[in-house]
Amino acid sequence: MKIQKVNFLQSAESLNDCPKSDLPEFAFIGRSNVGKSSLINCLTNKKGLARVSKTPGRTREMNFFSMNDQWALVDLPGYGFAKVSRKQQEKFNQFVSEYLINRPNLRGVFLLLDSRHPPQKIDLEFSGWLIENQLPFALVFTKTDKSKARVVEKNRDLFLQEMKAFSEGEPVTFLTSSNTGQGRAEIHAFVHRALEAGGA
Ligand code: GTP
Ligand code: MG
Repeated sequence: MKIQKVNFLQSAESLNDCPKSDLPEFAFIGRSNVGKSSLINCLTNKKGLARVSKTPGRTREMNFFSMNDQWALVDLPGYGFAKVSRKQQEKFNQFVSEYLINRPNLRGVFLLLDSRHPPQKIDLEFSGWLIENQLPFALVFTKTDKSKARVVEKNRDLFLQEMKAFSEGEPVTFLTSSNTGQGRAEIHAFVHRALEAGGA
């Protein structure tokens, strides 16, 4: 699926602010600095679409983009950013979890993980939370250009292994690099199949 038309729809800081639209949505979430905004720019082939940050925790709101007028991509703020105040962190947790649990448009979540690192507790916990809430998700291991392929694959396998402690099925996984474009075609194909399956 080639993305020919991308429009920024709006930003939102609560479920009520989300676009009044019935486009099916796919949300991108992960730790601060994991590469969400970069991946979104890579998927859409638009360098300046989502703001890429030098300092983690830059994206504080949910940003909605329509893709080919067919579906919407949602850039969610990064979790686990220690420098924001506890109050801000709570607010974030509240609006993001409210969105994820209550948004009827949501068809799938891409949980981004940094492929350079072995499984991190906060990411495992978040994947557990997605399972508890029966949210369909896929794992995306980012920044693969930064390590050797065997390190990336080892970290992916370790994550899947650790997930077995609380999950029965195995999620779909992608290996991506926003620098080389690795994984882009696979994510597009996945969204396309999900849209067809959902009758969108
Ligand atoms: P927040 O909005 O702060 O939560 O961050 P984010 O997850 O949106 O990350 P962002 O895309 O802003 O990227 C963070 C840093 O990682 C930037 O310096 C990017 O240039 C770098 N980066 C992101 N993706 C890749 C990648 O695939 N390869 C390499 N080498 N660097 C990347
Ligand atoms: Mg961002």
